[in-house]
Amino acid sequence: MNYPFWDVPIGYGILIAAVAILHVFISHFAIGGGFYLVVNERAARRAGDTGRLEFLKRLSKFFTLTTLVAGALTGVGIWFCIGLLSPAAVAVLIRNFVWAWAIEWTLFAVEIAAAIFYYYGWERMSAMPHMTLGWIYFMFAWLSLFVINGILTFMLTPGSWLETGDFWDGFFNPTFWPSLVLRSCIAAMLAGLYALLVASLLQPADLKARIARNATSWGICGLAAALVALYWYWKWIPPGITQAAAQRLPTPAAALQLCYGFAAAIALLLVLFGWVLPRRLHFALALILMASGLGFFGSFEWFRESIRKPYIITGFMYGNGVGLAHTEQLRETGYLAQIVYRTGNDGADLFRHACRNCHTMDGYKPLKPAFDGTDQAFVAAIIQSAHLLRGNMPPFLGTPAEAGAVAGYIKAKLDPRPLPALYGLRGVALGERVFQIRCGKCHPMGGQGDKTNSLAGLAPEDYGNMLDMASEMGVGMPAFTGDATERAALIEYLTTLQAGEKK
Ligand code: HEC
Ligand code: HEC
Repeated sequence: MNYPFWDVPIGYGILIAAVAILHVFISHFAIGGGFYLVVNERAARRAGDTGRLEFLKRLSKFFTLTTLVAGALTGVGIWFCIGLLSPAAVAVLIRNFVWAWAIEWTLFAVEIAAAIFYYYGWERMSAMPHMTLGWIYFMFAWLSLFVINGILTFMLTPGSWLETGDFWDGFFNPTFWPSLVLRSCIAAMLAGLYALLVASLLQPADLKARIARNATSWGICGLAAALVALYWYWKWIPPGITQAAAQRLPTPAAALQLCYGFAAAIALLLVLFGWVLPRRLHFALALILMASGLGFFGSFEWFRESIRKPYIITGFMYGNGVGLAHTEQLRETGYLAQIVYRTGNDGADLFRHACRNCHTMDGYKPLKPAFDGTDQAFVAAIIQSAHLLRGNMPPFLGTPAEAGAVAGYIKAKLDPRPLPALYGLRGVALGERVFQIRCGKCHPMGGQGDKTNSLAGLAPEDYGNMLDMASEMGVGMPAFTGDATERAALIEYLTTLQAGEKK
């Protein structure tokens, strides 16, 4: 709340995902590719294999360009984005890890210089110094992963840092080692995929097949080891986080499944076109492989980001930048008193600081579909019960009046038509929709908080009575504020429910 709010029209999630996923895809290749180059250069020199040396030279040009130019640009891009999107969290990371960042940037400087000299050294240096330079490059690149890995894993599993505040506790946190191994394996896999891309353009076919087979081994071994490491990583995430996600968050599971799907696609394509038919390896196919690699890595990062909800730093700061240490104070004063940069529109300011980090009205994780056709009292009630909804959200810590102001802001952007007109539904179908919108956010059918068994088999009057006293049925459950048509349709739908039924 101490920083101005950067109101980009597209969702924060999309913006940061686009820049960050591209960056990790390039930066991990910078590590794996360095290793691939030195190992293969040594083998090729020993065997006097000039074809392969030519290929490595070509690869290292492509490598230097992608890692230095695109890698550095997207890296700076990440700092711009996270600094503007989550300034409070970035401040925590800088304050706690300032020496780690300083070391990181020193490593980058050496890494970049080594890569440039390595590329120019192909023509101008003898074998030994050239390979030494390659090793220096690779070691520094890997060390930069070592450092950043400590900070990245800290955000999901800060471990005993939460009590001690000690640098080393935060750095060597519970998921540090599995994540380091996982990322190193992914780096090796990506080296194989990038090498295949460059190899796909090679002539003659014999040379292409030889190099493609070798690069495929990198891809397959890296992928297989990465999957084992992913399991290890998953096991080391504290059970509290994984259980809450399994019960209340649809996204991490979907992201993980997508990750496995891409892994299967990579394995299949690699075996088929890298090992069985390497002569047929076409550039377009190698591009598809690269895209699958991007998908694989991207969905892993998506998983890692989404399982952290509602936090940006687990147990320390919520996704909207509210530190857990300040929750009591906020509950007393409300949000507005703590927002330093105010625009004059309180509803909009409150919406930005409480919800906008994770939602837009009609783009990324849109709120319009969740609220269209409902009334302001309902929206206000849901805001105050945000922590009860499926989705693992931070609690709304503002006053009831502030919840009302956010609701007013949201309501003004909603479709004004009532639910029946909005969706063109009647009877049981309308009732089901009313249930999804007014009840299903907390009682999703078949999910955590499913109330089918309590709801099934009552008489219509009982349903009526229940809706009349809805706000007394549970702390945080809103009153039923739908109109008579909605009410009748909802009751009609509820009478169709059967106990034990899971939809
Ligand atoms: C830390 C991120 C975060 C913040 C902050 C946040 N939400 Fe959410 N919200 C989520 C996630 C994640 C979901 C689950 C849905 C999904 O994954 O698409 C969700 C779901 C919802 C849903 C349920 C949608 C449905 O129909 O099931 C509503 C309504 C909602 N949020 C409203 C709000 C409001 C209002 C605020 C501000 C007071 C807010 N959220 C703040 C992350 C957040
Ligand atoms: C903001 C979240 C929220 C919404 C929306 C909500 N409820 Fe609830 N509901 C709760 C909470 C919290 C409880 C009390 C804890 C519990 O039983 O899970 C509860 C309890 C209940 C119970 C009592 C269950 C029992 O086993 O005794 C029923 C029945 C119920 N809700 C039905 C509904 C219906 C029908 C709607 C829609 C009109 C609805 N709820 C909307 C949060 C909500």
